[in-house]
Amino acid sequence: MAALDLMPAPLGLLAELTHRCPLGCPYCSNPLALDKRDDELETALWARVFREAASLGILQVHLSGGEPAARRDLPELVKAAREAGLYSNLITSAVGLTAKTLGALAEAGLDHVQISIQDSDEPSADHIAGYKGASARKRALASEVVRLGLPLTVNMVVHRANIGRVEQMVELAQSLGASRVEIAHVQYYGWAVKNRAALMPTREQVDEAVRQVEVLRARHHGQIVIDAVVPDYYARFPKPCMGGWGRRSLNVTPAGKVLPCHAAEVIPGLEFWNVREHSLAEIWRASPAFSAFRGIGWMEEPCKSCSRRELDFGGCRCQAFLIAGNARAADPVCHLSPHHTLVEQLAAKREDAAYSYRSS
Ligand code: SF4
Ligand code: FES
Repeated sequence: MAALDLMPAPLGLLAELTHRCPLGCPYCSNPLALDKRDDELETALWARVFREAASLGILQVHLSGGEPAARRDLPELVKAAREAGLYSNLITSAVGLTAKTLGALAEAGLDHVQISIQDSDEPSADHIAGYKGASARKRALASEVVRLGLPLTVNMVVHRANIGRVEQMVELAQSLGASRVEIAHVQYYGWAVKNRAALMPTREQVDEAVRQVEVLRARHHGQIVIDAVVPDYYARFPKPCMGGWGRRSLNVTPAGKVLPCHAAEVIPGLEFWNVREHSLAEIWRASPAFSAFRGIGWMEEPCKSCSRRELDFGGCRCQAFLIAGNARAADPVCHLSPHHTLVEQLAAKREDAAYSYRSS
């Protein structure tokens, strides 16, 4: 019996409202084949998805993209999330989002804003984003978020070009009035796989950044929360990706496919159901893609008999496929994986090549 009451209840919904985006970040986690504007879900369908998410017990929706502000109905979507009783977090590049629209979003009931900033050094930030003037626009919009009384998180993705400026990045986030800053090392999915050798930091850089974060946490304690996402290529054990496949969250693509994680489409043979044909509850309960790696029954050795199998769930299925060519294998980041040397080889491959920017 696969009744809903025997399933873990999901906690969060990532609503990828559109893949359209004015920026071209070389580490974008969107797929290489982007959903087209004509295929995007209509406003009413998103509103239905939000209601169904709330009925499933989900408390929080992350309105993401691409750049969610590329959708003109964004205030209506925020209102729909509020009416469904969901806490809404807007994940934005802040480019293409005007102060006027932000005001409308606040009016519609938006709860939280997360702005990505590519670097504390402005020319470098614009170069990484592939958009001249992006940094100035982001800083201006951050001020507006704070002026409206909305809580602000600044997200800084770090890699070889900016990893030496973690301290300045935290100071910038604080000066912008953020209550939280995320120092997130690039995760190698989507466009970041294409740019891996250009983005990969050295182990020494990573160790220094990790040390810096600890110093900064002590220095800014009580003023700003510093979250850090460590780069798993240098770890001994993998991350429990998504908190376990099909355990905590759902990711709805612009065209309505529901994925257990943002990168799941790289795994061949998975069947994803679409909210146009199924309710979110049906998808959570019975979609073949969600069932594929739920629990631990699918595991192969060494995960199958490992004492950590219910702590990290064998790591990341997408990374296992991307590096080892087998989505059932242990995440090769794990030092117990027979494929771990591949990760060491990839981490050692660094080339100062021009970025391959994400296209729209
Ligand atoms: Fe995790 Fe598998 Fe490695 Fe054990 S062998 S630590 S379960 S990835
Ligand atoms: Fe897909 Fe980790 S990104 S399971």
